[in-house]
Amino acid sequence: MRFLVLGAGGREHALAWKLAQEAEVVVAPGNPGAAEDVETETVALGDASAVLALAKRVAADVVVVGPEDPLIAGVADALRESGFATVGPGKEGARLEASKAWAKEAMARAGVPTAASRAFVQFAAAADYARSRFNEGHGVAVKASGAALGKGVAVCSELESAMEALERMLVHRELGEAGAEVVVEDRLVGQEFSLLTLVSDGRFFSLPVAQDHKRLLDGDEGPNTGGMGTFSPVDWVSEELVQTTEDQVVAPILAAVPGYRGVLFSGLMVVDGRPFCLEYNVRFGDPETQSVVRRLGAGFAEALSAVAQGAPLPPIEALDNCAVTVVMASAGYPGPYTKGIPITVGPLPEGVKLFHAGTALHEGCLVTAGGRVLGVSATGPTLEEAADKAYAAIGSVRFEGRQYRTDIGRTR
Ligand code: AMP
Ligand code: GLY
Repeated sequence: MRFLVLGAGGREHALAWKLAQEAEVVVAPGNPGAAEDVETETVALGDASAVLALAKRVAADVVVVGPEDPLIAGVADALRESGFATVGPGKEGARLEASKAWAKEAMARAGVPTAASRAFVQFAAAADYARSRFNEGHGVAVKASGAALGKGVAVCSELESAMEALERMLVHRELGEAGAEVVVEDRLVGQEFSLLTLVSDGRFFSLPVAQDHKRLLDGDEGPNTGGMGTFSPVDWVSEELVQTTEDQVVAPILAAVPGYRGVLFSGLMVVDGRPFCLEYNVRFGDPETQSVVRRLGAGFAEALSAVAQGAPLPPIEALDNCAVTVVMASAGYPGPYTKGIPITVGPLPEGVKLFHAGTALHEGCLVTAGGRVLGVSATGPTLEEAADKAYAAIGSVRFEGRQYRTDIGRTR
């Protein structure tokens, strides 16, 4: 079986690495790390006809669309129309991620537990609503409705910061079209986890649970990022909680988007033991995937092939291990950062895998090329051992200004 994985990040490197244990894999455009493990090709992901031509040229049996943008643009529809079995929903299903306003309406219609919210395009109305929520004793989360690369959410415990966020999005249009509509949602206080569910025309199967740390600094302080590190399993998430989440959050929304083939990512906040949906994504999580694939045994390639064909899902072997992935980021991230800084990688302990994200080759040397540069992923019999191994490996991966959290896999 031959897979074409579309994307250039750590998620796609991890998917390609895992799939290559059981299948032939081409990644496009990939990155220097992925190129060490599998074949790579260049392609512009936003160009559906270029993607189709590539899928034909490499004779892909299954195409896996990694990032949300091509899914939102309808690339999965175009691939399926041309006969390619594809992992990733069409434009209709991708609305769950393309528009938070639409997703919240869909959640309400489907009865999915989620924070009370309203959507706005006018600053004055949004500000009135936020003020009324604070008067009733709630904090709020202000969310750009469109996809904004993890930068579109401000969680506010003060009215003043909510007003600033609304002004940045609706008045100054700092996030462009993505922030032209906002969702103002009650702030929930609880513990978060991520559930990645493979979906094949209504049948579904969840992968091992992971927890992401989205804040930049240790102890969940500092600004939100795309994700600074993940671990799996998550001991406080019981099988029963996963089952409740599937019953209340996954199944009802899938009934609202028939024909969904791909991955549904549910971002959950557990409040008093109950899962509330913060968001859906229509793709694998990044950096959740980098930890989750390390806990899968045989059967992942077969399962993704079944997803792509809308066929019954075969089981995937689960490994009895623990995985921790620590993201190494450029100085300045999630704000502006410099690219092109040389990276040196020394010998890595056994069981450690480097998943590349924002890296490039410049005159044969590995350099930084993005905010999140690399994910250092380790496995071990316990989370503590996996974390210790990941952090020991970080000593061997150096670039000027590198920043990373020191508590991934060590706090819950
Ligand atoms: P989202 O992109 O909607 O998952 O939001 C990004 C992050 O913001 C989440 O992982 C949470 O940490 C936080 N967040 C989102 N919505 C809320 C909410 N209603 N209450 C508290 N925190 C939230
Ligand atoms: N790690 C969060 C995301 O993939 O959106």
